[in-house]
Amino acid sequence: MTHRPFIVGNWKMNGTRAMLAEARAIDRAAERFPDVQVALAPPFTLINTLREAVSAMNVGGQDCHAEVKGAHTGDVSAAMLADIGADFVILGHSERRRDHGETDAAVRAKADAALAAGLAIIVCVGETLEERDAGKAEAVVSGQVSESLPVGDEALAAAAAGKIAVAYEPVWAIGTGRVAAVEDVIAMHAAVRARLNAAYGEAADKVRILYGGSVNAGNAADLLSAADVGGALVGGASLTAEAFLPIIAAAGTGEV
Ligand code: PGA
Repeated sequence: MTHRPFIVGNWKMNGTRAMLAEARAIDRAAERFPDVQVALAPPFTLINTLREAVSAMNVGGQDCHAEVKGAHTGDVSAAMLADIGADFVILGHSERRRDHGETDAAVRAKADAALAAGLAIIVCVGETLEERDAGKAEAVVSGQVSESLPVGDEALAAAAAGKIAVAYEPVWAIGTGRVAAVEDVIAMHAAVRARLNAAYGEAADKVRILYGGSVNAGNAADLLSAADVGGALVGGASLTAEAFLPIIAAAGTGEV
């Protein structure tokens, strides 16, 4: 089960056109590391601009609506993302689950819509600190995987085509500087893998499991070399090329 590592920057609600220079510099790094799949998810307002400014990396959204179009003020559909050249969309990030009350069922509906629009998806899962302290982390995350990921023939085909990724992001590790212990990441990725195998059978081999939560230049190499860590979803450390480049380099083989 070897995959090209997938290093994804999630700019969250950060970024104006002034940050295009950072995106271009990150794109040049992506060119230098062809053995790493590099991607950025800027705010909706910058997706099209980034798409035109970069060539070696993927560009995606941070959310989409489950409907194709209609009376949903302020929302953006997966079809619209595809129309402006997005390659993928992040779904079910814990900040969306928290700020917008997104349920597993809502995330699954968005995932179905994204696949129908031809986008790849990164579905986020992760436990809160209370859930971890209560010994429920694995049950919570396994449940999220089973309930949030798309199922059915289209999902199976997308999984087999490498268009589905899961990001394990413990909520308490996001933006806190408190990274999960490597052995805990390995254990959780194994639990996620078991659910993926149950859902997708052989096609699960093509589903990468990313780790997210305070990934930075100092901890990336340890995390990325751990068993079944197929990449990283990076927030704060993706906002500048200076911070993001060492993470891309840590994922590379160094042979280029
Ligand atoms: P962080 O965010 O790297 O700033 O912790 C990760 C994420 O939320 O995807």
